[in-house]
Amino acid sequence: MRISDNPIAAKLKDLGVELRAAVPLTGKTSLGIGGTTDELLLRRYETIPDVIRLLADAGIPHKFLGGGTNVLVADGELPWVILHLPSAHPGVRIEGNIAHVDASADLGGMVTFCAKNNLGGMEGLIGVPGSVGGALRMNAGAYGTQIGSYVREVELYRASSGQIETVRGRDIRFDYRHTSFAPDDVMLRVKLELPSKPYAEILAGIKICNEKRRSSQPLNQKSAGCIFKNPQGGSAGRMIDELGLKGHRSGGAMVSDRHANFFVNAGGATCVDMLRLIDDVRERVRGAYGVVLENEVIVWKN
Ligand code: EPU
Repeated sequence: MRISDNPIAAKLKDLGVELRAAVPLTGKTSLGIGGTTDELLLRRYETIPDVIRLLADAGIPHKFLGGGTNVLVADGELPWVILHLPSAHPGVRIEGNIAHVDASADLGGMVTFCAKNNLGGMEGLIGVPGSVGGALRMNAGAYGTQIGSYVREVELYRASSGQIETVRGRDIRFDYRHTSFAPDDVMLRVKLELPSKPYAEILAGIKICNEKRRSSQPLNQKSAGCIFKNPQGGSAGRMIDELGLKGHRSGGAMVSDRHANFFVNAGGATCVDMLRLIDDVRERVRGAYGVVLENEVIVWKN
């Protein structure tokens, strides 16, 4: 979608929004898949309600793109613009055991920054790619750690009210890869309460998680992490592996030969390739195990 010729472009500029025309989302997603659209960079959170109102009045659909590490985006010309909050480095301020974190901060960078300030607990999250906001929304987790356990407060843009609101951690439900946030809530800032731990101890934990991850996941291939959620009491990766599907392909999309729940872009994969592979594998698992795997990856169809 192109909006540079739309009268809205000047109004957005007045709000300090930077418009980048015709951005290929192949370069903005960890899968390297996605069509083209205009991107709006929102440098100040406070402008979000006004920006969204302007877009809505002009009938321009939008989506917020965070780190782009858990999303599968449609191919071709996209019928919505992308909004993006540029990341601040490190985007973290420490006050005692509380870390005040921008949602646009890099998750791994945030974990490391807190570690250097002797705040631990999140060692398992170190290799999870993406932004803090994306991790929050999905309640990202690995190696026994889930980000939701540490959340004391979240500041968010609530699309249903058109306002920026503050929600207490105890009023948010954090389940396995799921939260009570509405799909169109936009994470802005979070307060995390973290246990004190000496840096050296945290570093040792981080090292162990990094090694486990390196030995089992295809870290240097383009992927969105695990494609499916694990079914209750089971492992999607193990089931797909048992069916001999490692290396199974649809066009440029391939089941990783390292971890069967990672589907990688093995070269020139399109969204259509990836969706075909997802459906094909889901169907085979259903046939063999009677289990319908649920997507973990978020799909943005046209
Ligand atoms: N397994 C296989 N073959 C495979 C992959 C796994 O047999 O190809 C077996 C493993 O040997 C193990 C079991 O399946 O016995 C579970 O595998 P693993 O320890 O790799 O964990 P997972 O359940 O596949 C989950 C998360 C990962 C997270 C790891 C480590 C989900 C869907 N995945 O994977 O998160 O990194 O645990 O904690 O919950 C993600 O969310 O994108 C993600 C990668």
